[in-house]
Parts: sequence; C-alpha cells; structure tokens
Amino acid sequence: MADSNKTATLTFDNKSFELPMHSPTAGPDVIDIGKLYGQADVFTFDPGFTSTAACASTITFIDGDKGELLHRGYPIDQLAEKSHFLEVCYLLLYGELPTAEQLEDFENRVTLHTMLHEQMTYFYRGFRRDAHPMAVMVGVVGAMSAFYHDSTDINDPWQREVASIRLIAKMPTIAAWAYKYHIGQPFVYPRNDLDYASNFLRMCFSVPAEEYEVNPILSRAMDRIFTLHADHEQNASTSTVRLASSSGANPFACIAAGIACLWGPAHGGANQACLEMLREIGTPDRIPEFIERAKDRNDPFRLMGFGHRVYKNFDPRAKVMKQSADEVLELLGIEDNPTLQTAKELEKIALEDDYFIDKKLYPNVDFYSGIILDAMGFPTSMFTPIFALARTVGWVAQWKEQLSDPAHKIGRPRQLYTGKTFRDYVEVENR
Ligand code: CMC
Repeated sequence: MADSNKTATLTFDNKSFELPMHSPTAGPDVIDIGKLYGQADVFTFDPGFTSTAACASTITFIDGDKGELLHRGYPIDQLAEKSHFLEVCYLLLYGELPTAEQLEDFENRVTLHTMLHEQMTYFYRGFRRDAHPMAVMVGVVGAMSAFYHDSTDINDPWQREVASIRLIAKMPTIAAWAYKYHIGQPFVYPRNDLDYASNFLRMCFSVPAEEYEVNPILSRAMDRIFTLHADHEQNASTSTVRLASSSGANPFACIAAGIACLWGPAHGGANQACLEMLREIGTPDRIPEFIERAKDRNDPFRLMGFGHRVYKNFDPRAKVMKQSADEVLELLGIEDNPTLQTAKELEKIALEDDYFIDKKLYPNVDFYSGIILDAMGFPTSMFTPIFALARTVGWVAQWKEQLSDPAHKIGRPRQLYTGKTFRDYVEVENR
C-alpha cells in the first residue's frame, strides 16, 4: 500500500480533521479513518461495507465497471482458457505462475493429501441421510481441526502451509463424500493417478459395482468451473474467513465459517436457487411474469444469477461460463436443453428491460454454472458445495496473506446504537 500525497479533510462542528490517503496499484484511492475515532470521537457508518476497504490485498482485483477480474494481475478469461485449476491455486497462494518443476512439486503435494482420516467416515455417519450437503461440509470441515492437530498452530509457518495443502487437497473428497452419503452409496476413495477434477468426478459418480471412466470433456469443464470460482477478493465468505481468523482461530474453523457464509442464496447458494428458478419458469413464455415479479418492490423474489455488488457490467466469469455451457451441452449431444433455452431468453429479455439497465444488473457467475453442473449429473444440492470446494483456495490464500501481515489485528466493527439508554432494573411485581 503506497501512501498518497493526498489527504482528505472532514469538517463538522466547526472542526476539521486531516485524514491520510493511500493509493492502490489499481482501483480507487482510500481514505484512512483508522485514527478518526481517537481524534474526532466519531465512527463511520457503512452497513454492508459498500464503501469500506477492510484490508490491503495483493491477490485479486475486480474492476466492476469494466467487468474485469484479475488474479495476481492475470485476467480470468486467459486463466480459464490457458491455465488449469491447480496452476491457478499456485498463483493465488504464492503470487506467481509456477515453473514446470514448481507445478509438478505442488501437484504432488496436493495429490498426497487427498485422503481423509479414516475415522472421519464415522463422523459422516452421524448425519441424517437427507442432510443438505452444505450442512455436512460445514460440519466436516470444522471437524478437521479435531482430526489434524498438527496443522492448527497459526503461528508456525510450516503448519500453516500443511493446513493450506490439506484443505485444498481434501475438499473434493469431503464434497464427494457428502454427496455419496446423501444418496446412500459407498464412499469412493481418491486415486492419485487422476488429475484434480477427474478425481472429484470419479469420487462422485463411480460405484464399486462397475468400471468408471472419466469423460475428458466433463473433466475439462469441471476444472474450468473450479478455476472460475477460485477467488473473488473481499466477498462475504472471504471477509467471514478473515474476520474469524482475526481472533486467531485455527484454519479449519475459519474455512468452515466461510462455507457457512457462502451457503446463503445472495452468495454461493445462488447457483442452486438459479437453476431451481429456471426450472420453475419452465418455458420462455412464462419469463415476463417472473421479470415483473423481480421488478415488484412488494415481492421478495429476485432474479437469481443476476446482479452483483461490484460488477456493474457483465461478470467476466459469466461470459466464460455461458460459452462453456454451450460447448459442454453440444459435446454431450444435449442440443435442446430447455433450461439453457430459458436461461438465454431470460438473459436477453432482462438485458433489454429498463429496470435491469438502470440498476446495471447483469448475469453473474451463478447464472450459467448450474446448467453445466446439471448436464454433468449433479443434483442442485451439490452446486454450492462445488463452489465451496473451488473457493477454498481463495479463502486459504487470503487467510495466509492476513496472517503474514504484521499489522493485522482482531476485526471489531463499531455500531450506531439506537436502543434504550441507561435505565434501572424494575422488579417483576412492579412491571
Ligand atoms: N433481481 C431484481 N432486482 C435486483 C436484483 C435481482 N437479482 N439484484 C439487485 N436488484 C435491485 C434491488 O432490488 C435494488 O433495487 P432498489 O435500488 O430499487 O432498492 C438494486 O437492484 C440494488 O440491489 P442491492 O440489493 O442494494 O445490491 P447489493 O449489492 O446489496 O446486492 C446481490 C448484490 C448479488 C446480493 C443482489 O444483486 C442479488 O440478490 N442477486 C441475486 C442473487 C445472486 O445471484 N447472487 C450471486 C452473486 S455472484 C456470486 C457470489 O457472490 O456468490
């Protein structure tokens, strides 16, 4: 973070306060209000953090007006086309693209950690079979702190590194087992001769009764979905991970907190909600009815997969996802997918509607991802666990960055109190 020569002046009650400013390498300047309370005895008020930078970071940058997403400077469309998920993981974690040797070493390290502690199979069995896989993910990832004691000391850089690799390596196994448990099939153990995405598909879809060969088209599509979800700077779940971590909590507890936050339909849960909405719409002739509902202030319905806090233009991930959906459905020979037709028509109608134009509401990453996952054979309840699996590297990279910052401190927002002021307790017989 570079200090800027600029300062901002805050004036109220005939007093002025000079506030330092910092210049980023990209994006708007920030006004540093860290000492404001001590100097001026006021708080700032920004529920939802619409104008507040909560940390400095070098990992991911979004230009919401341009619709640009960069990881360590590299645009997401180039990474989705030319790179692959584990290489992007390396980039997010260590800051640079790996050499061939570094990549091989990283892939080996991840591959060697894909198995879960065998005792964890009993842990799974404690859940009801009809539990949502996200409920199982929150529990199992949190429980990793009970199984991997040797990587919970956040002050030991080696333990931090082992925890990072364990989380990235085990998340496909955890998500696949949540699915297998849900459908009553036996757990499938990871195979070290398969790449990350193929391994996940095999753990989800193979059964001991027959041979399973991973379809390379699906594996590539899966890897691309992982890549597109890998990180997204200070979104709600990442900020949750950072806040949990600020108290010194162990990494598994922090990532479990991130998964819990991701689950909501305004965030990662939107992919499940979006496909369910597209199915409910059913046919293009019903689209106007749903558009009208989305515009009605008295109706809580929102067009799922539309709108974003930061993007006021196309979400660049949605563009790649749309193209990917077309490719995957064509390659699988599912040309007349009615959900894809409804999605395309809905996108077209919404993008021409004044309400969506004025509010700059564009399709986001969740709009098309469900169509691909559905074509692959995943039930909607698995969509958000797949998002969580892919986002784990982003959470881990941000968690590591936070801990390596010597200036980091516990996150503790203040409030605008609007409740009762001091009053004496009244005995029950006198109320
Ligand atoms: N459908 C209809 N109206 C909408 C929508 C939508 N999807 N999104 C925003 N609006 C309206 C909203 O009613 C508000 O109108 P007004 O100014 O008249 O009150 C205006 O647009 C601004 O919305 P907001 O809720 O103040 O914006 P926000 O930045 O707080 O919310 C959002 C962003 C993503 C939560 C919201 O757009 C939304 O709920 N979208 C649907 C859920 C979704 O697709 N979420 C996935 C986001 S991308 C992946 C991820 O983050 O996990």
